[in-house]
Amino acid sequence: MPNQKDNLPSFASSSAQAAEGRKASDGKMEKIVSLCKRRGFVYPASEIYGGFANTFDYGPLGAEMKKNIKDEWWKRFVTGRDDIVGLDSAIIQNPKVWEASGHLSSFSDPLVECKKCHRRFRADKIKEIEAKFHLSPRDVSDRSKLDLMLEERAMIFCSEGDGHEWTDVKQFNLMFKTYVGVTEDSASTAYLRPETAQGIFANFQNVLQSTRIKIPFGIAQIGKAFRNEITPGNFIFRTREFEQAEIEYFVKPDKAESEKRYRYWIEEIENFYIDLGLKKANIEIREHAREELSHYSTGTSDIEYNFPFGMSELAGIAQRTDYDLGQHEKFSGQDLKYFNEETGERYLPYVVEPSLGIERAMLAFLVDGYDESDGTDGRAEGEVTLRLHPRLAPIKVGVFPLVKKEGLPEIAGKIAADLRRAGTTAFYDESGSVGRRYRRQDEIGTPWCVTVDFDTLKDNTVTLRDRDTMKQERIKISEAISSIQGKLK
Ligand code: GAP
Repeated sequence: MPNQKDNLPSFASSSAQAAEGRKASDGKMEKIVSLCKRRGFVYPASEIYGGFANTFDYGPLGAEMKKNIKDEWWKRFVTGRDDIVGLDSAIIQNPKVWEASGHLSSFSDPLVECKKCHRRFRADKIKEIEAKFHLSPRDVSDRSKLDLMLEERAMIFCSEGDGHEWTDVKQFNLMFKTYVGVTEDSASTAYLRPETAQGIFANFQNVLQSTRIKIPFGIAQIGKAFRNEITPGNFIFRTREFEQAEIEYFVKPDKAESEKRYRYWIEEIENFYIDLGLKKANIEIREHAREELSHYSTGTSDIEYNFPFGMSELAGIAQRTDYDLGQHEKFSGQDLKYFNEETGERYLPYVVEPSLGIERAMLAFLVDGYDESDGTDGRAEGEVTLRLHPRLAPIKVGVFPLVKKEGLPEIAGKIAADLRRAGTTAFYDESGSVGRRYRRQDEIGTPWCVTVDFDTLKDNTVTLRDRDTMKQERIKISEAISSIQGKLK
C-alpha cells in the first residue's frame, strides 16, 4: 500500500497545500479540479475511505468525455483508415513478454528516500529542479526567493525542516506485480502491463495471418496500463492506472522509411489534438536528446502541452526499429518475420509508435477549454464556459421547456428523446430560470441548447442557442435536430 503522505490528492485538501497549489497554477488547476468534482467529471477514488494515492474515478460526464476521446481516436486512426487494424489484448500476459521487452530489467526510475521524512522521489526530477533553480542540494535557506511549484517544493524542502537527507539512489521497477492462481511464489508471479504496446507485438503473426494485411500497416489498441509511479501527481496527469491509445506502425526495415513515417506520425498526432480544439500555440514538439531515449528507441519526440503546471508530455512518438519483434523472436523461439509475397523478401519490420494517454488528453482539453468571463462578453464576470469541441462534449444538447406547463415539458421531453434515439446525448432540464439552465450547460461544455416556448405551440419552432457565441436562432424542431447532427459529423 502506498504510504499515507502519498495519499493526498494533488491540488486538494490541506489549506497549506491548496494555497501553494493556487500560487503555482494561478488557481486554474484548482478551479478545474473543483468543477470536475462538482459536476461529475472526475472524483477522487475511494473518497468515502479518505481517497487512495492519486487515484481517480470518472463520473457521468467524465466517463462520457473519456469515451468521446477514445471514439474520436479510434474513428480517426482505425475505422477511418484501411492500413490500421484494432486489437484488444490482455492486461496480464505471460511474464516472458516483459522479460523479452526489457521491462523487467530496464523499466525503472532512479529512487531516493529522505532519511528524515521518508518521502520518496525520483532522483532525476530532483536534479532537474536543482539545475533549473541553480540550487545546490543544501541551498534551502531562503525559501521566499524560490518560485517553486507545489510538487517541486516538496522535492527541495523536507517537512521535518530544512533540506532532505537522501539515501543512495536505487533503481525502482515500475511494474505492478501480482500472482496468478492460488499460490504466491515466483512461478506464479505476473505483472500488470505497463504499456499496451507489447500485446500488439506478441500478436503480430496472429494479425498478419488473420487479416493478410500488407506492410506498411499498423495495429492499434486502447486500454489500461499500470505503473507504480514514484511521484504521481498533477491531478489526472500522472497516475498509477491510466489508459493508453497506441499504434504500432510496421514499415520496411529501412532507416529513411522509418524516419519518414516518424515525421508523418508526429504531425498526425499533433493534428489529432488541434482538430479537437487544442490551441496550436499551447503545443510544442520536443525531440528527445540521445541520453533521454528509452531502451528501445532510436528517436523519440514528445508532443507537449502548456499545462498550468508547465509544459508537459501529452504523447510520445518513437522509432522502435525491430527491437521488440526481435526480442520476442529470441525469447519465444517463434519466427516473427514478415514475408512479402510479391518480392520474396523476408524481414523483421521496423516500427514507428505514436502513443498517447487518454487522461492527459482529457486534462489538456479541459484546461484549454476552460474560460472564465471577464464580464465584457455578455456573461457575468467569473462565469465559466467550458469550450469543448462539440464531439468531445459529454452532453451535446440541453433541452428546456420555458415553463413547466401548457404542454411545453411534453414537447421538450420528446425532442430530447428523439435526439437520444438518434445517438445524440441530450439533457432535459426544467428547473430554474432559462438563464440559469444555460449557465449550467455552459459550465460543462454543452455546445447547444434548445428551448421550447409558447411560439412552439403555434409554429413548431424552437430557440437554438450556441454556447460560444450565445446567439439564438428561431428554427423548426426538425431543422434544429438535423442542424445539430450535421455539426457533429
Ligand atoms: N509504449 C510507449 C510508451 O508507453 P510512454 O511515453 O511511457 O511510452 C505513452 O507513455 C503515453 O502514455 C505518455 O505520452 C502519456 O500520455 C501516457 N502516460 C504515461 N505514463 C502515464 C501516467 N503515469 N499517467 C498518465 N498517463 C501516462
